[in-house]
Amino acid sequence: MNRVSFTTASSLVLCSIAIGHAQERRFTGSRACAQCHPDEYRKQSATAHGRALYPAITHPLISRVDAKAERRSNYDFRFGLRSGEFRVSVSDEKDVIHVPLQWAFGAGAQAVTFVGRIDRDWYVENFFSYYPGIGKLAVTPGQQSIEPKTLPEAVGLVYRATDPREGVVRCFRCHSTGPIETAGPAINPSETGVHCEACHGPGSEHVRTSTPKLIENPRRLKAAALNDFCGECHRPPAAQGTQINWNFSWNVRHQPVYLSQSACFRKSSGALSCLTCHPPHEPLRHEVSYYNGICGSCHASIHAGGSRMTNCIDCHMPRVTPQAPLRFTNHWIGVYGAGAHLKPISYE
Ligand code: HEC
Ligand code: HEC
Ligand code: HEC
Ligand code: HEC
Ligand code: HEC
Ligand code: HEC
Ligand code: HEC
Repeated sequence: MNRVSFTTASSLVLCSIAIGHAQERRFTGSRACAQCHPDEYRKQSATAHGRALYPAITHPLISRVDAKAERRSNYDFRFGLRSGEFRVSVSDEKDVIHVPLQWAFGAGAQAVTFVGRIDRDWYVENFFSYYPGIGKLAVTPGQQSIEPKTLPEAVGLVYRATDPREGVVRCFRCHSTGPIETAGPAINPSETGVHCEACHGPGSEHVRTSTPKLIENPRRLKAAALNDFCGECHRPPAAQGTQINWNFSWNVRHQPVYLSQSACFRKSSGALSCLTCHPPHEPLRHEVSYYNGICGSCHASIHAGGSRMTNCIDCHMPRVTPQAPLRFTNHWIGVYGAGAHLKPISYE
């Protein structure tokens, strides 16, 4: 994978300044940006990026899960807010265990997943996630086929805390901003959610000096580099030689991989990027006319009239549901056969 010129994940970036010695740039948090960029701050804080992670008790949808009961094979689950803590109690005929769930991942556009700390070395991702679209708790993505044999196993999928390849700390890396404290008894992110410095890099020196040169701006990246940049979290295009399974519907959620296959992307000399359709400080747009306008800017009146042809996305960027009710948009823009939404016809 091609790394972009600056990093989103490291806690410190060294940069030379005019007086000749290196100055450390540190993360300061988005509030520091608000005083000089109030519009960006207000809009961006309200996006799903800004709300990608909460301490569970402060998640705006937590009251919908309070007092809910569920059953998984022979185990009963009861969720509840209790003396400042959100927790799940899981029981079989004999025993009951109570597990505090400190974290709620996901803004709620699609799903909210609860994660709890077992001890310093282990975390658990609860078996049930909340799906606002259907107003229900249902199985967490990735846990469909797991059969628990013991009460502790029933609670959910257990993760190591800080293992770089499979630790739960990876969830925090993509859902929070700035350095993550891992030395203490619990994982502690600097700022929950994806905020300014996740994309603009550490801002302390820019805040101190107001110098534009001391802050990164992804605007300067070319379309292909933006695929890698946004792909740091949304998954980048496949490195050459890596085979992608186009028949595996979960892969559709990795938009950079799919967009980079599109003729629109490959043949437009860098004119099409994530930013063409997604202004970075605004919520995801849903209006058909908004996207039609973008397609129209390169494809003037491609189809003869008729109201059937007025929703370009519907046919050329079809929806894919790897697990109901989750729904992703196929970013491989192309011509699809009826009911075949994973790959355009001419590439089959
Ligand atoms: C004390 C005021 C001040 C603060 C605080 C501040 N900025 Fe700026 N920022 C400016 C000024 C002035 C400019 C240049 C004029 C403009 O583009 O509005 C600028 C420009 C920028 C640019 C465009 C840079 C370019 O060269 O394209 C970005 C991106 C940016 N700021 C991000 C941030 C972020 C992120 C934070 C918080 C970490 C932040 N700013 C905090 C004053 C500030
Ligand atoms: C630090 C990780 C990170 C980076 C960098 C990042 N994203 Fe995201 N993005 C996320 C996460 C996490 C979500 C899911 C938010 C949620 O629903 O909880 C998301 C959601 C989105 C959504 C859907 C928002 C919605 O309302 O459902 C869009 C669109 C998006 N990102 C576009 C981009 C683009 C374009 C870039 C590059 C300019 C980018 N992202 C960079 C982590 C990131
Ligand atoms: C490599 C970065 C990355 C990692 C690691 C990661 N996420 Fe995400 N997560 C994202 C992005 C990007 C989205 C937005 C997906 C989309 O809508 O396409 C997202 C979306 C979500 C959502 C919203 C529902 C959905 O599926 O869109 C939940 C809940 C979630 N993640 C939980 C987790 C949990 C729990 C972990 C750790 C077990 C985790 N994530 C690890 C990047 C990441
Ligand atoms: C998901 C990544 C992402 C996040 C999060 C983000 N920005 Fe940006 N920002 C961008 C991109 C990309 C551009 C270039 C926009 C363009 O060219 O359309 C940009 C441009 C800017 C600019 C330059 C003016 C402009 O519109 O070109 C400022 C100032 C800025 N961002 C401030 C902020 C502040 C303040 C925050 C937090 C409140 C923030 N950004 C959060 C990606 C992000
Ligand atoms: C930045 C310009 C640009 C934008 C925006 C754009 N396209 Fe394209 N598109 C192209 C180019 C260039 C081609 C390749 C044409 C060729 O092969 O001669 C193409 C090809 C296509 C094809 C044929 C695909 C194939 O595999 O042969 C379809 C269908 C298509 N575009 C639909 C759309 C739709 C729908 C949208 C809006 C969601 C859109 N395009 C947005 C530039 C663009
Ligand atoms: C030609 C326009 C276009 C481009 C370019 C584009 N998107 Fe999208 N994107 C869409 C549409 C349309 C949706 C679905 C909107 C809706 O749900 O109403 C969407 C939805 C999303 C979502 C929400 C989850 C999903 O799959 O529905 C994410 C995340 C996202 N885009 C990320 C990206 C990233 C990252 C890039 C760059 C690699 C990108 N998009 C480029 C049009 C585009
Ligand atoms: C009802 C489904 C449907 C809708 C809606 C639709 N298209 Fe198409 N489109 C097709 C099919 C099928 C083809 C391939 C056969 C053809 O060329 O008519 C196609 C072909 C294309 C091509 C490739 C033409 C070529 O010569 O290679 C482009 C570009 C395109 N559509 C753009 C758009 C745009 C822009 C919109 C929105 C205004 C749109 N389409 C709406 C079904 C649709």
